[in-house]
Amino acid sequence: MKDYKRYTVTSALPYANGPVHVGHLAGVYVPADIYARYLRLKKEDVVFIGGSDEHGVPITLKAKKEGVNPQVIVDRYHSIIKKSFEDFGISFYIYSRTSNKTHHETASEFFTTLYDKGEFIEKTSKQYYDEAENQFLADIYIMGTCPKCGAEDAYGDQCEKCGSSLSAEELINPRSVISGNKPILKETKHWFLHLDKYEDELKQWILEEHKEWKPNVYGQCKSWLDSGLFPRAVTRDLNWGVPVPLEEAKDKVLYVWFDAPIGYISATKELTPDWEKYWKDKDSKLVHFIGKDNIVFHCIIFTSMLRHEGSYILPDNVPSNEFLNLEGDKISTSRNWAVWLHEYLEDFPGKQDVLRYVLCANAPETKDNDFTWKDFQAKNNNELVAIMGNFVNRALVLTHKYFGGIVPQPSSETDYEKEIKAEIAKIKENIQYNLENYKFREALKNAMNITRLGNKYLADTEPWKLIKTDEDRVKTILYYSIQLCALSAVLAEPFLPFTTTKLVNMLNISKPEWEETNNFELVKPGHQINKTSLLFERIEDDAIDAQIEKLNKTKEMNIAQSTQVEPQKDIITYEDFVKQDIRIATILEAEKVTKTDKLIKLLIDTGIDKRTIVSGIAKYYKPEDIIGKQVCVLVNLAHRKLRGIESQGMVLMAEDTDGSLKFISPESLSANGSTVS
Ligand code: 2FM
Ligand code: ZN
Repeated sequence: MKDYKRYTVTSALPYANGPVHVGHLAGVYVPADIYARYLRLKKEDVVFIGGSDEHGVPITLKAKKEGVNPQVIVDRYHSIIKKSFEDFGISFYIYSRTSNKTHHETASEFFTTLYDKGEFIEKTSKQYYDEAENQFLADIYIMGTCPKCGAEDAYGDQCEKCGSSLSAEELINPRSVISGNKPILKETKHWFLHLDKYEDELKQWILEEHKEWKPNVYGQCKSWLDSGLFPRAVTRDLNWGVPVPLEEAKDKVLYVWFDAPIGYISATKELTPDWEKYWKDKDSKLVHFIGKDNIVFHCIIFTSMLRHEGSYILPDNVPSNEFLNLEGDKISTSRNWAVWLHEYLEDFPGKQDVLRYVLCANAPETKDNDFTWKDFQAKNNNELVAIMGNFVNRALVLTHKYFGGIVPQPSSETDYEKEIKAEIAKIKENIQYNLENYKFREALKNAMNITRLGNKYLADTEPWKLIKTDEDRVKTILYYSIQLCALSAVLAEPFLPFTTTKLVNMLNISKPEWEETNNFELVKPGHQINKTSLLFERIEDDAIDAQIEKLNKTKEMNIAQSTQVEPQKDIITYEDFVKQDIRIATILEAEKVTKTDKLIKLLIDTGIDKRTIVSGIAKYYKPEDIIGKQVCVLVNLAHRKLRGIESQGMVLMAEDTDGSLKFISPESLSANGSTVS
């Protein structure tokens, strides 16, 4: 393995249109932070980069919905995300944002360099355009009928019903998701990255030279490369983003996926004037931590951009996790099916490490995994409390009890102590190996083995029994136990930094460096330790039940909302509309139509005449309750027979999303026959 002089560690920039949830944390930020903390503890030269991705269509749509400028949206979420990361102990050297000036300049220059080198092809093509909204529509903002299975609500990129990948032009009866209107095809010019030209070099570099990448990453790249690459547009018709630095593209911006990864570079520039050595020196190791939906953009597109810009290094690895589910269901922002970090921090103050532990222990490293509140509780109570907390507490309490909190001098080492030393050296080696190979779950298990070993040591030697007969032996046992506490504080720091701080405070030492653990003795005999308190507390059922209840409520709300609002019908003209003659009318009589449970026969005063109308409202109204009620009636509807009764018009009803019907009535009493328009 190559020896690097420094490390550039990046973590995917989350979109600033919503807060961060446990899925993001388990997939990207917890592993990235563990890795960066480990390198820092080893005194490596490292930068750890994060920031908000503040461009893209979804942000503009959210802004439109709220009637504000997109900057308002990204300002809001950038500060929520930044604060929650800080409070959670994600130790970024910088957490920047892509709406910053430095980023706009950097992304713009990057485009220009590639442009000048002739890396783009220009293409004019027809794309869907929403005339009402004056904007081109990204594929995900077009819906229509799936040409493959006939589903009416397929998206321009994919049909969720039959799973086919689609392009917007294939949809039958396309409509704009934004306005509901039928989009027109309009010509537009864009700049495309020549991915097809890079296919061979990518195949060589990834498939031959990076076989060590995680199987999920390697596999996804292989399947893309095997099916052939095509030019990919890096510009968009939008007015939110980094403007395309070309005279002829004044109202276009760089595609969000072109500018976002350049955000890592811009942030490093903001962090240090020495930024170039982290990005351009071959002795720097570049590692991108990302979620699985970002693999292609990082491994294929961004690396091609870096390579063809010419002055940058390429990533050594792109560790990506699979997805974390929540209580058996896919995490979904729109359905609010998530555990939000900022809410967790409020609900469980001081328990950052519990979540860090659970998310790392359950990290979806090789396959999708599930977060459940019961498992969260069990991992806290049965592992953190029962293994680490229990050992530390016993070691410190006994030292206080027998030796007034002074670390004793060992004098009676046996083979057991030799074994412990050897075992610790092995554990440390394993942690290092696993961290350096992005196997964080395994590394955490190794780290927990230190206090697991300590518990066994105390259980085997029983110092509380020996104290009456062999104080020297107890001194040795507690000396070793204190060293294990200190070793655990250091070697578990990447995973549990808040616990480390607590533990070194109780031990009354300053945090040792990683390499100091080679000495084994981190706390000298004669050293006075501080008062002890519990490292972890049990989490009781009521706290867990409250979280489960919160999710159940979300589920109920989702079910209530799951009946979709009817899509808008085709546009009609004003002339079409005024053909309908709608009048205010009063119900004079009402009776149920026999042998049906839906229909009520009404006698209605329309102001023009008194007429019979049959209406399907029996499930929602009792005949006796509606007599005298004013309603709206479509009076010029052709008569039709229902159950043998001629219905001479239609009473207009509001149909709720759950299918229930309600009358539409004038706000105050109106003359029968008043027109509605
Ligand atoms: O998937 C996402 O949340 C993207 N905002 C990730 C971007 S990572 C990098 F390119 F900045
Ligand atoms: Zn389909």
